[in-house]
This record gives sequence, C-alpha cells and structure tokens, in this order.
Amino acid sequence: MRTVLDLGVSPPANSLLDRPDEPQNCFPLVLEHCPRCANLQLRDCLDATELYGNYLYVTPDSRVLQEHYEQLHQYLTARGYLAPHGFVLEVGSNVGLLLQYLQRKGFKVLGIDAAANICRMARDAGVNTICEFLGVTSARAIRDTYGMPDLLIARHCLAHNADPHAMIAAAAELLDKSAHLVIENAYALNTVENNEFDQIYHEHMFYYSVRSMQTLLASHGMHLVDVFLTPVHGGSIVFIAKRKSPDDHIAPEVESLAVREDQALTATAFERFAANAAGIRRSLRTLITELTSRGHDIYTYGATAKGNTLLNYVGLTREDIRYCVDSTTIKQGKYLPQSRIEIISEESAYARAPDYFLLTAWNYKEEIIAKVRQAGNRRSRFILPIPSVHIV
Ligand code: TYD
Repeated sequence: MRTVLDLGVSPPANSLLDRPDEPQNCFPLVLEHCPRCANLQLRDCLDATELYGNYLYVTPDSRVLQEHYEQLHQYLTARGYLAPHGFVLEVGSNVGLLLQYLQRKGFKVLGIDAAANICRMARDAGVNTICEFLGVTSARAIRDTYGMPDLLIARHCLAHNADPHAMIAAAAELLDKSAHLVIENAYALNTVENNEFDQIYHEHMFYYSVRSMQTLLASHGMHLVDVFLTPVHGGSIVFIAKRKSPDDHIAPEVESLAVREDQALTATAFERFAANAAGIRRSLRTLITELTSRGHDIYTYGATAKGNTLLNYVGLTREDIRYCVDSTTIKQGKYLPQSRIEIISEESAYARAPDYFLLTAWNYKEEIIAKVRQAGNRRSRFILPIPSVHIV
C-alpha cells in the first residue's frame, strides 16, 4: 500500500454535536492506493455503528439532484437497462427522493437503508423502505418477499461500506441474468484531478475507478457493461454491471475510460494531489485570517461531510467562522464536529447575511448562489475552496 494523503486525525464527518463542548472521538484519516486492485481507499475503516448510529445525512431536495434523477432514468431506459414498469430496489435509499421520482414514472420501488430515523422519513413520504444493511441474508429475504428486482441501484453508498464484497455478493443473489446493478460514486479520477481532497472522510472508505470496480465485480461473477460520467457531487461515475454472460454487449466507454485512468492515476498524479491539498490549506488559512483581521464575518454554507474535512484539515474553527448554514432541519441547532461551529437555517443566515460565505457545499454552487441572490442578498461574496481557493 502506498500512502497518498494523510489528513491527520478527525471525527467522523457526519457526527454533529448537540452541544459545542460535547466530547468527540477522533480517528486517523489516511488515503492509500492499492497497486493490486488499483483502488484508492482509507487505511482505517470505522465500525458501522460508529458511523451510522445516529445518521443525519438527508439527501437535499435540490434542483441539481432532480435533474440528475431525470438523466439517470433517461440513460437507463434509452440503453435498455430498465424496462417500463420494472421493479427497482435502491440500497442506501435515504429519504427516498430517487424512488419517489421513479414511482411517479410508474416503476415498482423498494428502498433499503441502515439508518432507522432516515427510513421513517422515507416511509412517511410514501416509499416502502426496509431498515437494514444489504447483505446476502437480507438479499434472500427481499427476494422471497418481493421477488427479484429488474434493477438494483446503489447511489453513493457502496464506498461507505468497509466490506464492499458483502453488497456485491448480495447483488449477485438478487439479480437474474438479465437484470442490472447500477452503482454511482464520486469518481476517483475527478477527486484526484480536481484536488477534491475534501471528499476524503471516514464514511468514504473507497474511491472507485473503472479498473478497481472491474476487479471487485470479477470476484462475484459480474462485470461492467457500461459507464457514464455526471457532474453531481463534484464529478461522479455511474457503473452499470450485470452477472456475466457470454452474449453481453460491453459499451466501448468502459475500456476507453479505463485506459484514461491508467494514464492519469499515477504516482506523480498522487504526489501532485497531495501537494495541491497542502496548497489549498495554506491559501485558505491565509485568506480567512486576512478577512477576519479586516473585520469581515464569514459563514460556511453547507454542513457537509466534505466541509468538515476541509475545515479540520485547514484548522478553521468557530474562532474564524461564525455560523454554518444548512437547509436540513435535523442539522440545524447542532454543531460541526471539531470546529464546533453552530448550524443555522438558510432563513436566519439571509436575515443576518455575512460578508463572505465559504461554500463547503461547492458541488451546489450555482444553485446556492442563485438562491442567496433570489433572497435579495446582493452583498455577500462566496469563497470557493476547490479546485483552488477563489472568490466569486
Ligand atoms: P452534500 O453535497 O451531499 O454533502 P456531503 O456528501 O459532503 O455531506 O450535502 C449538501 C448539503 O448542503 C446538505 O446538508 C444540504 C445543504 N444544502 C443547503 O443548505 N442548501 C441548498 O440549497 C443545497 C442544494 C444544499
């Protein structure tokens, strides 16, 4: 294993505090590269109960995501991976926004998610959701009760599991030869090329590429038949896989992207990535010190997991940043781990707008900036930390 980036020790990024002085556990955050399976992965994986005991990540009801669901639906149906009225099972379905979208399109849907509080919210929204981790045992129970799905989709959750083999083995149990597995994840190539070191946090244990996904699937008799890239979450990849059969058609994009990875994910690229992360740390620290010493006030926008990696790596705390703004009701009134910045609603932030917002949800930058301007605020400026520190 080769160490790519050492971000020191930090608390799990989604474990928000109820009080600013609440004690918290910190763990090492070190990214490594495995030359055998070509994967980027965390050196230390936390136990699921440490991460998901009281889970507060709620998929935002955002315009960007609604457009993404539409794009997914169109791609999967146009390429014949999902037939009308098929049965879609989503793992890590959170509050069920994608499944609600698919339900409206006439699909039969079922969610499975490990966080009890989040499952309740999905059910309240009319999405049938099982509260469990997906493994071989739960897969068999689902198959016996609901039948085999035509499509199993895992958006931004395979990487959150210390044992990805358990989920792929479950998929192999659940899918017959004509069904598809769709996995969406932050794409390692974008993470490295766009200096997105803030994508590294304890929940993100793996940073998949075409090459590493091919290796993982092969050990379960499955393979990739297609891939496509999408800008959500700072650059994500959608893998389309199935149980291997001789007459499968493999889209040419699979091999062309794998070849691009072979050329781009090199030792030199990893060194540049680490150096750029250190550069962002220096520039952001200098900028924030300069602005606060001139009397400007700064809030962060987005109580995001990635924001916590950024703040903690740069060493920013509530001494530097007054508030964190977030639209998620269950995050408001809590405090970010380590930096101990209080989370407030968008409405309160607009009522006492700061000079600068540090956009810790930079993946929604257009949507958030437009929202702030529509709320009548023409004054606040936005600091974007990634791919390099700049103000807009
Ligand atoms: P996300 O980008 O999914 O972050 P991560 O995966 O790093 O945790 O989360 C975006 C956060 O930003 C989420 O907590 C909701 C918040 N948000 C707003 O406060 N306002 C908005 O307009 C949008 C789109 C998101």
